[in-house]
Amino acid sequence: PLHPVILSGGSGTRLWPLSRAEHPKQLLALSSDETLLQATARRAAALPNAQPAIVITGEEHRFLVRDQLATSGCAPACMYLEPEGRNTAPAITLAALHLAATDPDVLMLVLPADHMIADHTAFAVAVTTAQTAASQGWLCTFGVSPSYPETGYGYIHVGTPLPNAPQVSHVSRFVEKPDLPLARRLIDEGGHLWNSGIFLFTARAFLNELRKHRPDILATATAAWQGRTKDMGFLRPQGDIFRACANLSIDYAVMQATARAAVVATDFSWSDVGSWDAVWRATSKDANNNSVSGDVILANTRNSYVRAEHRLVAVVGMDNVTVVETADAVLVMNKDRAQDIRAVVEQLRTS
Ligand code: GDD
Ligand code: MG
Repeated sequence: PLHPVILSGGSGTRLWPLSRAEHPKQLLALSSDETLLQATARRAAALPNAQPAIVITGEEHRFLVRDQLATSGCAPACMYLEPEGRNTAPAITLAALHLAATDPDVLMLVLPADHMIADHTAFAVAVTTAQTAASQGWLCTFGVSPSYPETGYGYIHVGTPLPNAPQVSHVSRFVEKPDLPLARRLIDEGGHLWNSGIFLFTARAFLNELRKHRPDILATATAAWQGRTKDMGFLRPQGDIFRACANLSIDYAVMQATARAAVVATDFSWSDVGSWDAVWRATSKDANNNSVSGDVILANTRNSYVRAEHRLVAVVGMDNVTVVETADAVLVMNKDRAQDIRAVVEQLRTS
């Protein structure tokens, strides 16, 4: 059996004005009627031998997350609620401890709730490919061919194939979020894949590697997990202890340090839709290379992303723009300046 572990903790301010603190990216429907969380849950449920998922999310999102999963027919096995996010290493540790209490050798498939993967079949093939290696104690990652020197991703240097699983390779080096010169060098060097942020391993293997490299996170998360309370299907780690956990991602805590990492090269199209530009790239385009959503009229407009949530939006004679209209805010932006949205969010925060 395979246990999906869905991480739904991000805040996602880069898709402002659609994403807000109370409506992070994973709870939005970006390309269809389905939200990214719902698509993730359905993709997981369709895998061979998949059990109901374990979902780790923030206290403040518990009802939205529960309702979205129920609506998509993917009610979770349980939901762990964090009093405050401590990044992915502590979150994944809660799920690993939960599973290990019954059987430490079950496979856990860690899934970010906020990615777009259109081809569910190719995704299932990659997960199946990784299973044998993961059962033997490898921490399996899923690599994506890089297309530009992104500094927000992890880079995996693909090593030699594993002896008894030739489609899976050793990770000879894992570099989390390199600076731009290093990202450029890794791409020029070749042999590197982006880390997709999806992981497959046994609870035992993950906990062993965490013990080796960050025993403090294991100890604190274990104490918080042991002090958990259960209420209406919501599990809560002991709050004060959990808050004392180091705030660290699995990538820095374990993947960069471990000698037990392996990688499967994937061939599905993958996007972590981290910006409006990425949403435009990941969604379908009309003959003029525009991606539109909602009540939109375009004339003489190309290469643009236009989204109307509450009103009719008309765009005339524009090239390469992003327009996002919501009930209380409108964004108009040069499509190439997607990262500059941070400046807006920062100004809103301080004003
Ligand atoms: N429950 C919970 N609690 N979930 C969290 C928390 C937390 O404290 N922090 C992050 N998450 C969730 C996010 O919602 C997202 O679904 C996933 O965990 C990954 O976290 P991100 O914060 O989005 O990580 P990242 O995008 O900077 O980097 C990771 O993903 C990249 C690919 O998108 C790394 O794994 C990189 O190596 C990778 O390339
Ligand atoms: Mg991300």
